[in-house]
Amino acid sequence: METFQSILGESLSRALATAGVPAAGEVVPATDARFGDYQTNAALILAKQRGENPRALAQEIIDHLDVAEYAEQPTIAGAGFINFKLTAVAIARYAARLLQDDRLGVALTNNPRRIVIDFGSPNVAKPMHVGHIRSTVLGDALARIATFLGHEVIRDNHIGDWGTQFGMVIYGWKNLLDRDALEREPIAELVRIYKTTNELGTADPAVREACRQELVRLQTGDPENLRIWNECVALSMKEFEAAYQVLGIHYDIQRGESFYNDRLPDVVRRLLDSGLAERSEGAICVFFRDIPDLAERPCLIQKSDGGFNYATTDIATVDYRIKDLGADTVWIVTGAPQLLHFRQIFEIARREGYTADFRHITHGSILGEDRKLMKTRSGDNVPLGDLLREAVARAEKIVDEKNPELPPEEKNAIALTIGIGAVKYADLSQYRMTDYIFSWDRMLSFQGNTAPYLQNAYVRIRSIFRKLGAEFTAPNELVLTEPAELNLAKRLAQFAETVPQVLNDFRPNLLANYLFELANAFHAFYEACPVLKADEPARGTRLALSELTARVLQRGLGLLGIRVPEKM
Ligand code: ARG
Repeated sequence: METFQSILGESLSRALATAGVPAAGEVVPATDARFGDYQTNAALILAKQRGENPRALAQEIIDHLDVAEYAEQPTIAGAGFINFKLTAVAIARYAARLLQDDRLGVALTNNPRRIVIDFGSPNVAKPMHVGHIRSTVLGDALARIATFLGHEVIRDNHIGDWGTQFGMVIYGWKNLLDRDALEREPIAELVRIYKTTNELGTADPAVREACRQELVRLQTGDPENLRIWNECVALSMKEFEAAYQVLGIHYDIQRGESFYNDRLPDVVRRLLDSGLAERSEGAICVFFRDIPDLAERPCLIQKSDGGFNYATTDIATVDYRIKDLGADTVWIVTGAPQLLHFRQIFEIARREGYTADFRHITHGSILGEDRKLMKTRSGDNVPLGDLLREAVARAEKIVDEKNPELPPEEKNAIALTIGIGAVKYADLSQYRMTDYIFSWDRMLSFQGNTAPYLQNAYVRIRSIFRKLGAEFTAPNELVLTEPAELNLAKRLAQFAETVPQVLNDFRPNLLANYLFELANAFHAFYEACPVLKADEPARGTRLALSELTARVLQRGLGLLGIRVPEKM
């Protein structure tokens, strides 16, 4: 479906053309609702370009504008803004069409892409920590939104299952492993042997050397070391899978770093042959001498001992995604510390002649109440599994208080929906680059911009329909008279404008904020306008608005990876 924004935008283009002036400006939602619903600064831009009076130009554009089907006569405000106020009839017509549209007005993209999205990507033998939650939740939401908009999306988990940590893990496995502990808490035990070995190695060069040799043995295919490595991978994967299960996240493929291992010698050879890489102090590097701030920061692709790097793997990853998977777009979601790394990787890809659209989507950190990186009391990373369990347990307490008579199974299911929804929403409602403080009380509150608040709005609407008893059939025509009805209907129409915007700069928070405002508009409407007790045609119209609100909340939260309960 077309949106009001696109309809008015096209009218503006036509008006400019018939007025004989060049295309300029856009139609955007009004910054101040008192002046209208949409506005354009086209006249201001043109006036500046041509040295003319902006208000006179605005009048000339209005004289050529034909928007009577949708809006009242446009007005001029301030220095020369043109404002549009939608008519009640147009809004009602639009809402009635929305009721018939499965996509709730959201158009499919006219430029469908084949996108590989690399997100989450935790590391083996290390716990998946809260830092990974951001990438996982953000990547999942972007994948859902891109899919909904009609892109072809391949979700790839680039697991850190290879690399120098395995020298230490294997040394620790052979010398320090506590079998019972491994049975009980595999990841904790793997982390313990890794950390202890690391400490031993810091003090004792002989341990360091032994670790290095274990790593070389692994890399040269020693069966014993391969077996240990395999077991570590399997144990970690099991824990990751459990977290994905709870989070409701799936991957299409999981190509970990080890998948690329065989391809690394070729990558280095190719880059040397093409002259993009060069030998430097025994190592092999790619230099970026023509990029001022990278001039002193070469990318190391082979160490002097012959070992390969994180970067070498990522160059092989580019090949695989473009050539084997046929992607034309690659999105990689990680924390901001990897900015330099991916600038280098994308620059190398460009020099190799790749023309795909590579995007590094970075995010900030999750902080503890002390505003420092979130840690446990002992200073370790908070394991994701523990965090998710606590989210659900806390939500369960809340459900218990609000609805003690629900059967336990239903309570559990609702607690899962609320607890996990709260954790995800706390993240997605922030601009991704913002560091935010992790606060259970805030994210689980039923007040404010939280998942439970939005879920509760949905539940309220469902309960209206339960009270209705009969099946609801939407009226063909809606009659909007009350300001709260109009306001809600306008918000509903903006869903279709908001969803595509998220992908402009990868900002699911735009959608979260939209849903929050929609829920607010619904509450205001619900206070001002009785629904079931109203007479027709108001009753049918209000039920229809309620129904649409529930659908948009459910769909919008669903695009963020958040489910809605029917009761709470
Ligand atoms: N495993 C990495 C980490 O935990 C993230 C991997 C991101 N993707 C990539 N292609 N390098 O930091």
